[in-house]
Amino acid sequence: IPVDPFDLVIFGATGDLARRKILPGLFRRFCSGQMPEEARITGAARSDMDDAGFREMVAEAIREFGGGRSCEDGTLDDFLTRIGYVTVDAKGDGGWGELKERLRSGFVRAFYFSVAPSLFGDIAERLRSFGLADDDSRVVVEKPFGKDLASARALNATLAQHFDETQIYRIDHYLGKETVQNLMAVRFGNMLFEPLWNSQYVDHIQITVAETVDVGGRGGYYDTSGAMRDMVQNHLMQLLCLIAMEPPARFEPDAVRDEKLKVIRALDPVDYHHIVRGQYAADESQPGYRAHVENPRSTTESFVAMKVHISNWRWANTPFYLRTGKKLKARTSEIAVVFKDAPHSIFGPEAGRHANVLVIRLQPNEGMTLGVTIKEPGPGGMRLLDVPLDMSFAEALGPDAEEVPDAYERLIMDVIRGNQTLFMRGDEVEAAWRWTDPIIEGWTARGEVPKPYEPGSSGPEDALMLMHRDGRKWREIKG
Ligand code: BG6
Repeated sequence: IPVDPFDLVIFGATGDLARRKILPGLFRRFCSGQMPEEARITGAARSDMDDAGFREMVAEAIREFGGGRSCEDGTLDDFLTRIGYVTVDAKGDGGWGELKERLRSGFVRAFYFSVAPSLFGDIAERLRSFGLADDDSRVVVEKPFGKDLASARALNATLAQHFDETQIYRIDHYLGKETVQNLMAVRFGNMLFEPLWNSQYVDHIQITVAETVDVGGRGGYYDTSGAMRDMVQNHLMQLLCLIAMEPPARFEPDAVRDEKLKVIRALDPVDYHHIVRGQYAADESQPGYRAHVENPRSTTESFVAMKVHISNWRWANTPFYLRTGKKLKARTSEIAVVFKDAPHSIFGPEAGRHANVLVIRLQPNEGMTLGVTIKEPGPGGMRLLDVPLDMSFAEALGPDAEEVPDAYERLIMDVIRGNQTLFMRGDEVEAAWRWTDPIIEGWTARGEVPKPYEPGSSGPEDALMLMHRDGRKWREIKG
């Protein structure tokens, strides 16, 4: 179903995110027929360029970063006629008048801030003072949303001077991933899981977001951030919230976000013995983290593993183990809900221990696996065996299923529809920083140095110990 006609302005339109994600994503939505005839996209950035030059850049970006299954030949030219460009000076007066002339009245108006957070205030102010934005316009902001509580508060306050909270769309692209939303469908669309979804039946939960990539060309940013700020405070936190939250009364923005906020507020401070930081080392064939960020003494972590407790009725005594890192063995993101053992084994001790595990795979091969215990086939008596009930969403839905939109595509369309459910509210972001700050401050105060780990491994040995000490085991990282 096409969304309402819109004018979308992308600030930072010549940047990496716009080229890799935003513009190709918009093109795919265009191919799938979701973009109405009258939709217009205007790139805005400092570079001196005209419409034709920008269209050429967009075409190249789409060729490089992908159309989709449903994009037919010739569609790109059609898409490009909807694209324009204006050179704009975020800190001055240049270009704003021309940009305003490009916008039409009566359509949804959205402004995507794909720029450094230090420019949010300048752009927001000019959108108002030059009369480009009104009380119905929407603004989309990217992470990093601050680097601690104080800076996040300052950003929120700046945006709030010009826009109401209902106009602000803070992106966490993990919320746009198909399986992340499926998590809510699984929990709240089935009777099967929710009655067991608590500390009476769940032994622990593991959340793993493992990457094989290094910090690549992003060393400058990453070295001031680290895995805790880059991944845990936002992406892993969102996954934790969706797994742990109470059922919202409705699938509506504030109902969902209220429940997520309660989870963040119920998080215990983390004991520093329950956190392991790592940094990938060099090996014979490749440089390590410190060389990548050109900082030979860097103490920033590229890996973190931690045990987290949520102090509420549902989760008291069920630990959540989180881990994420770069340069690991495989690219895999998953959530594993490990249930308790059956209270009594009628098959005797020789049958061993068999706990059910529900694994929700975010990537690759999105799907779900439920480990169930059955009898080992054959006449050998009652021996038990764990087998997976395995479902890949792609296979289950078949080749004719509609193409699954990438996270950015979905989120941008939600902005146009005016649906904030999958976006972070200001208080949520602040609460997440309130929990994260003392952890990072503790590392600094203790002068902690992350443990080196081998590239292509599962992270530092100490991360394994974190679970071993509790008589538990991480699931293997495998693609
Ligand atoms: C980004 C982080 O937000 O998410 C990156 O800044 C990380 O460091 C990326 O690589 C991971 O996203 P995805 O969708 O590839 O899992």
